Amino acid sequence: MKAVFLAPSYPPEMQEYTRGLAEIGVDVYGVGDTPRGALPEKVRGHLADYLQVPRILEEDDVVARVTAWLKGRAVDRVLANWEVLVLTAARLRERFGVPGMTVDTVNGFRDKQLMKERVAAAGLRVPHAFRVKTVTEARAAAERIGYPLILKPISGAGSADTYKVEDDAALEPTLAKMLHVGEASCEEFIDGEEFTFDTVCIDGRPAFANVCQYLPKPLVARTNEWISPVIVTVRNLDQAKLAGGIGLGRKVLTALGMGDGFTHMEWFRKPNGEVVFGEIGCRPGGAHLVDQMNYTCDIDLFREWARAVCFGEFRAPTVRKYNAAIIFKRAIGQGRITRVDGLREFLRRYRDYVVEEKLLPIGAPRRNWKHTLVSDGYILLRHPDWDRACELAMEAATDITMYAE
Ligand SMILES: Nc1ncnc2c1ncn2[C@@H]1O[C@H](COP(=O)(O)OP(=O)(O)O)[C@@H](O)[C@H]1O
Ligand SMILES: [Mg+2]
Repeated sequence: MKAVFLAPSYPPEMQEYTRGLAEIGVDVYGVGDTPRGALPEKVRGHLADYLQVPRILEEDDVVARVTAWLKGRAVDRVLANWEVLVLTAARLRERFGVPGMTVDTVNGFRDKQLMKERVAAAGLRVPHAFRVKTVTEARAAAERIGYPLILKPISGAGSADTYKVEDDAALEPTLAKMLHVGEASCEEFIDGEEFTFDTVCIDGRPAFANVCQYLPKPLVARTNEWISPVIVTVRNLDQAKLAGGIGLGRKVLTALGMGDGFTHMEWFRKPNGEVVFGEIGCRPGGAHLVDQMNYTCDIDLFREWARAVCFGEFRAPTVRKYNAAIIFKRAIGQGRITRVDGLREFLRRYRDYVVEEKLLPIGAPRRNWKHTLVSDGYILLRHPDWDRACELAMEAATDITMYAE
């Protein structure tokens, strides 16, 4: 089995998928813009060959170069787990006649309006929304949708340029902030708890499924720097509260024609129990979500994903043993990290539950919290009991404080 894998070393978690593919005996043909000499040793060891391209995000150029590179060689798969490359992989699959999702199918996972239209066409509940390109169109859409409403880019990520608009008075200032966004979605604000539904699919059916709860909701976490965002995998997926969302998730996969691989969906649960679709990608969630899922079941999804997409098999146990919580920290102040309060005590008290502590070390420059959910680092912990896992996460959020100067 020969598989082309796009961006095998960047972002860093891609290195784990490269490893997963190699470990199940696949010859991995990596394509990326990391110079060959700068590939980490462990990645190099897992690659059968590597094509360095000038810019991995330049789709036409990448397609042309990969086509020339593979001339006369047959490959069995073309894979990508980075959101910005899933369409490039689909184009390459179509070009080589390799099995997997087509460009049209993958578009349903990339374009938020098309996605909602396809999901709604299957009779599923999505936020009432309009695609708007001008301020005039946005005003007209706001009139029809009413307040509160959400304005966000059609192809956004990480809650960038996403706003909740409370009333008419707030509309104009928000539109003024969004002038650089080419195409936006103006949509009904869904008030409710926000969850994920994550899978590894084989032919559109989840061989593995996961739900996380966001505490608080991503838009709130991305708007307030003082918050330490928390995401917790839910150990018990059989509870009534989640049944609607998981059912919705499975139907969304069918509606969008999911094939093999990871999916990452977001959904809302309103106080009256109604569930509403948020968005979905045909790739894994970022910000260490795959690590969290691995800690939930003590498995290696990097490898199982490879097995699923290459051989249509999933061998790891799916028994859920823990609720795994990740707590992202943001330092107070700008510049370099100078001090971390409460960490040593927390680690001593909860050493049985903390599985990773990856806060930036003293002296390291702060990261831009608007650009990366990981912010100034994270703590990952797990506990079999849901309430306890959440309590520990809240304690880490409030009692550990990072400072920068
Ligand atoms: N219609 C909506 N109703 C309520 N909240 C929303 C809505 N759309 C987006 N949000 C909030 O904004 C966040 C980011 O929007 P999302 O569509 O997930 O884009 P992104 O690709 O940036 O994650 C969501 O996680 C949610 O908290
Ligand atoms: Mg989102």
